[in-house]
Amino acid sequence: MFQHNRIHDIIKHSTLDTIDTKILIMHATKFTHSYLIANPNKELTLDAMLLLTEIIKRRQKGEPISYILGYKEFYGRRFKVTKDTLIPRPETELLVDIVLSIIKPGDVILDLGTGGGVIAITLKLECDNLNCDVDITALDYYPDTLKVAKDNGDILGANVKYVLSNWFDDISCDYPTQHLFNIIVSNPPYIAPDDVHLKDLSYEPKSALTDNKDGYAHITHIIKSAHKFLKSHGYVILEHGYNQAKHIQELFKLHGYDNIKTIKDYGQQDRITMARIL
Ligand SMILES: C[S@@+](CC[C@H](N)C(=O)[O-])C[C@H]1O[C@@H](n2cnc3c(N)ncnc32)[C@H](O)[C@@H]1O
Repeated sequence: MFQHNRIHDIIKHSTLDTIDTKILIMHATKFTHSYLIANPNKELTLDAMLLLTEIIKRRQKGEPISYILGYKEFYGRRFKVTKDTLIPRPETELLVDIVLSIIKPGDVILDLGTGGGVIAITLKLECDNLNCDVDITALDYYPDTLKVAKDNGDILGANVKYVLSNWFDDISCDYPTQHLFNIIVSNPPYIAPDDVHLKDLSYEPKSALTDNKDGYAHITHIIKSAHKFLKSHGYVILEHGYNQAKHIQELFKLHGYDNIKTIKDYGQQDRITMARIL
């Protein structure tokens, strides 16, 4: 355990950066940031010190802070994250913005590979705020992952449907008719297994990051299959890697979509490609 138990001393002697240390102290003590600043000489209790020691060690080993805290902010809301869910990224907020810019009352929307449910739940809650009634389904392949999405939906009060399925395989069980969705949105696993970036993401579920093929296996499957489940003039909107836009545009063309468009993220990287069926 640390030799120091005063707030100021813990921050001064921590090997982590100051922001991380403060966040972990706040987590271990439930103190607010203003309290930390106003009370630098406050001594932490033994229980708080034991917890802080443990979580500082986890952080030192490289565990992302969101997994230690058990949550991540997305679109101004707090979402539970666990080892079964990807930590939502800020780029995905842009995906939500794009869907919100085209959504209409009465639309039926599918979020494929929902993870902790951030896209589906945010869309539903933002539409509720606009009095825009939409029907949203969140789908994932992994029961433990989908459970986190459901928990988030319950905590945040979002009326979303949840489907456990390997992509579209079980959609027809819940939806006997075809051509159902106005918008299919997805941030699928798109990293190739030999991508150097994967090693920096070792705490996140591999199944959320890579297709174990070439990075395009899930994307191709979604593009190929989606038009059977879309209403006419329906959209597919996909988040992808910064260097994948051209190939994804070609896949959309090959499978008969039009109005194909790529949008850059806030870092000016190609990040989202969308297309429409006739
Ligand atoms: C990149 S994560 C996206 C999570 C969340 N939508 C987000 O944007 O933060 C991809 C998600 O796809 C899910 N997934 C992987 N393979 C799948 C499959 N065959 N069918 C359905 N979902 C799958 C993973 O479990 C994971 O939650």
